[in-house]
Amino acid sequence: MKTILVLNGPNLNLLGKRQPEIYGSDNLEDVAALCQSVCNAGVGIRAEQSNHEGQIIDWIHEARESAAGIVINPGAFTHTSVAILDALNAFEGPVIEVHISNVHKRESFRHHSYVSLRAEGVIAGLGIEGYAAAVRRICQLIGD
Ligand code: DQA
Repeated sequence: MKTILVLNGPNLNLLGKRQPEIYGSDNLEDVAALCQSVCNAGVGIRAEQSNHEGQIIDWIHEARESAAGIVINPGAFTHTSVAILDALNAFEGPVIEVHISNVHKRESFRHHSYVSLRAEGVIAGLGIEGYAAAVRRICQLIGD
């Protein structure tokens, strides 16, 4: 059984309650169920969320041994975290970056992403469907 790590960063624990006009009304449990539903047989999801940069980095390190690919929505750390970029650079499998909102239509500080320097693909503005597309792509890239 191969594992895809689906990682969500700060404030995404409030998904469904936080600014629903931007992020929609589905919550992180809905995201995890959607991701699992689009996985090929023989692939499973591990879904994690943290508001703490170090915890996200620790999970990415663990993924070196335990995951075939990573889907990550780093939240606001997207725009600030060289440390998350460095951790992803130490991971050998495919990485897809997801943003629920279209960050390019929003404030200019959301237009730059450190994580995009590492990601095989970047999805923005598809709502939670972006996670499903990312999982499907990782399944292709890992050959399942
Ligand atoms: C986000 C976009 C980020 O700019 C923001 O800080 C988030 C969520 C998104 O999913 O659209 O927390 O990553």
